[in-house]
Amino acid sequence: MAGSKKYVVYTGGKREDVDPATVVSSLASMLAGIVGSDDEATASMGFTYKKAFTGFSAWLTEDQAETLSATPGVVKVFPNRMLQLQTTHSWDFVGTPNVTVPSKNESKTLPAAADVIVGVLDTGVWPESKSFSDAGMSEVPARWKGTCDNKGVTNASVIINCNKKLIGARNYLTDGEFKNARDDAGHGTHTTSTIGGALVPQVSEFGLGAGTARGGFPGARVAMYRVCSEAGCASDAILAAFDDAIDDGVDILSLSLGGLPLAYDEDPIAIGSFHAIERKILVSCAGGNSGPAASSVSNGAPWILTVAASTIDRHFSVDIKLGNDKTLQGTALNFENITSASLILGKDASLSSANSTQASLCLVTVLDPAKVKGKIIVCEFDPLVIPTIILLKSLNNWGAAGVILGNDVIADIVRYFPLPGAFIKKAALKDLLAYTSSSNSTAATIFPTKTVLDVEPAPTVAGFSSRGPHIENLDILKPDITAPGVNILAAWSAAVPVFLEDLDATKPVFSDFNIISGTSMACPHATGAAAYVKSIHPDWSPAAIKSALMTTAKSVDNEKKPLKDFDGSDATPFAFGAGQISPLDAANPGLVYDTSVEEYLLHLCASGYNATQIAVISGRTVRCPESPGAPKLNYPSVTIPELKNQTSVVRTVTNVGAPKSVYRAIGSPPLGIELIVSPGTLAFNATGQKIAYTLTFVPLQNLSKKWAFGELIWTSDSISVRSPLAVKG
Ligand SMILES: *[C@@H]1O[C@H](CO)[C@@H](O)[C@H](O)[C@H]1NC(C)=O
Ligand SMILES: *[C@@H]1O[C@H](CO)[C@@H](O)[C@H](O)[C@H]1NC(C)=O
Ligand SMILES: *[C@@H]1O[C@H](CO)[C@@H](O)[C@H](O)[C@H]1NC(C)=O
Ligand SMILES: *[C@@H]1O[C@H](CO)[C@@H](O)[C@H](O)[C@H]1NC(C)=O
Ligand SMILES: *[C@@H]1O[C@H](CO)[C@@H](O)[C@H](O)[C@H]1NC(C)=O
Ligand SMILES: *[C@@H]1O[C@H](CO)[C@@H](O)[C@H](O)[C@H]1NC(C)=O
Ligand SMILES: *[C@@H]1O[C@H](CO)[C@@H](O)[C@H](O)[C@H]1NC(C)=O
Ligand SMILES: *[C@@H]1O[C@H](CO)[C@@H](O)[C@H](O)[C@H]1NC(C)=O
Repeated sequence: MAGSKKYVVYTGGKREDVDPATVVSSLASMLAGIVGSDDEATASMGFTYKKAFTGFSAWLTEDQAETLSATPGVVKVFPNRMLQLQTTHSWDFVGTPNVTVPSKNESKTLPAAADVIVGVLDTGVWPESKSFSDAGMSEVPARWKGTCDNKGVTNASVIINCNKKLIGARNYLTDGEFKNARDDAGHGTHTTSTIGGALVPQVSEFGLGAGTARGGFPGARVAMYRVCSEAGCASDAILAAFDDAIDDGVDILSLSLGGLPLAYDEDPIAIGSFHAIERKILVSCAGGNSGPAASSVSNGAPWILTVAASTIDRHFSVDIKLGNDKTLQGTALNFENITSASLILGKDASLSSANSTQASLCLVTVLDPAKVKGKIIVCEFDPLVIPTIILLKSLNNWGAAGVILGNDVIADIVRYFPLPGAFIKKAALKDLLAYTSSSNSTAATIFPTKTVLDVEPAPTVAGFSSRGPHIENLDILKPDITAPGVNILAAWSAAVPVFLEDLDATKPVFSDFNIISGTSMACPHATGAAAYVKSIHPDWSPAAIKSALMTTAKSVDNEKKPLKDFDGSDATPFAFGAGQISPLDAANPGLVYDTSVEEYLLHLCASGYNATQIAVISGRTVRCPESPGAPKLNYPSVTIPELKNQTSVVRTVTNVGAPKSVYRAIGSPPLGIELIVSPGTLAFNATGQKIAYTLTFVPLQNLSKKWAFGELIWTSDSISVRSPLAVKG
């Protein structure tokens, strides 16, 4: 197949009355017509989609792809893309064997109710992990059609035996160590156990404390769809997993993966998710690790729950005591003895020929090993310029006494340091530099890592967490919500080291549990919370569950102050959405903003998508209204990207609480705006009753081009239903 590339050929939604086998044979003959023969079609065919929607992936030349896109029945042909796992870079993977300290917000026990099945698209799963013990679980519900697929596995010790907790495991890849959905990367085991892991009592190690590991909703059943390897996640495999998972009978899907923000008709996750919500399956996705740049958020389609990452109230802290008795706090896994040595700045540890920027960043190529030896080197670090592992390895080889790396964006993330050292925030680096410039002989002492609980403020938004607005829908606030995604401890694959003691892969350290960071870790927390809500309200739509999570989210931290960003500034809703998930409150949200599939389609029309593009996304033939008007969607947040004149927005709330309940509006308008809520009181007479209200934004002055934020809260005696507001002139 010289000159050919893999493409995804999408042929639309699937009619219920058409048999999957009929779909397969008609797609095969369509491909044969293009490539010349049945044999060649068989050779070039990748996946076929036949259950929830239709299409296939295939190796094609550019000409063949073009011919196919003009073939009747073909909605769109797009190149197969590689998406990425949303952990911080794999070289920043860190871990500590057997260590688990539950933070307060991780340790709440959520009671189980109805059966909930969560499908996870990821790197596979380690089935023997104690987190997937099915002790005490009831029989798998009869509606479940998924399987534990071990096709092609010859080695008996690799076979995955599903149980009543891990009820499915399918594999879509040919690469990797195993031929099934056994996890050879660790990521999938981590996310899956975060969602629905059973309780696992732990012991302490390295003096970092002890506790019990558990998933967000231990009552959930989980099914793995292996679509990612270390190389990434191919979009044709992702679509195949959606096609199977929707048909298998999952209730919720969790995707800790993504790529650049894309138009929805180019985005396999947006397309697969649309078919999922058509079947009332909520899809929860990582918002991405491309922060703090604006408009970096991905997986932002309105029908997706888009999750940002924030810290928890537990830190792995390294104390750095300066010669002037001031102590700075850093973050690292640092198991070395207390180390005292003199400090040297990158610029003073470099070759005389070095460029000063490169020198202060500690670029290894300009450092002078002789100057570094025996010293604690201080760098204004940028992991995009030089990977952490390369710098640490070099410093270790050169006999540096220690290392202090200043960078706001990554300073929350704990990683293994093979020599005494830590990441510190820029504010701490400033103190450190002030000390070195005020004294001719400077020294510091670096202490080993200790666990610090009840850290304040927490949560704070992680620097790496991608920010809104989403490029494709400025009128929808994204991300939707934030959840713990920094230094999260969960189960790990026995095939993958948690860290390399010597950073040279000759001394790998293994553990059943590992601590990693990313929106990849935040997404499964939100998924677990959604599973909990679904277990209590099995008949709720994905939009209702999402609304419940959003309107009950907390926009204040544990000091009761507005959520802070990674650098100590006030964070905005484009960093945290509606706020930090509050699962117990989400089970009783009082009111929900529900949305139908048809409303999403109309919203696409109003957002400028034409019928062809909408057919790609939804598989449906949609006739957009002649003048669809401004985009409007019954969303739990309100965003107006260009507020020139007085503008009204209508929202409809459904009473899911007590039949007779009364809510009053409390608005805090964005700066420069008068907010009118009409009616100001909503009196419900029945559960399930819907009432519409109008929110009018009156600009009191010419608004600046900067976003301004506010909130609207509907309150009853015991419940607050909170919506963030975002407007720009
Ligand atoms: C079977 O797989 C296990 C786990 O990967 C491995 O240790 C063992 O060597 C394999 N056995 C054979 C015969 O390949
Ligand atoms: C820490 O100090 C002890 C006692 O001096 C020594 O035996 C040990 O090797 C040191 N550990 C490290 C990691 O340097
Ligand atoms: C130093 O090198 C960087 C590229 O690594 C370059 O962008 C910068 O202009 C250089 N600065 C000086 C002062 O030469
Ligand atoms: C550092 O040394 C220089 C030259 O020896 C001296 O002039 C200066 O006062 C010293 N500074 C401090 C802060 O001790
Ligand atoms: C983890 O703890 C268990 C039980 O205490 C112990 O057997 C095992 O060796 C520990 N693993 C590591 C990697 O330290
Ligand atoms: C729909 O929009 C796409 C992308 O802008 C464009 O390529 C296509 O020609 C449009 N189709 C119609 C029928 O307008
Ligand atoms: C609820 O009942 C009261 C009293 O019967 C009535 O006045 C009110 O209009 C009703 N509210 C709605 C929203 O139907
Ligand atoms: C707003 O801008 C318009 C047009 O630039 C100007 O005519 C008007 O005076 C401005 N109003 C205020 C209140 O600044």
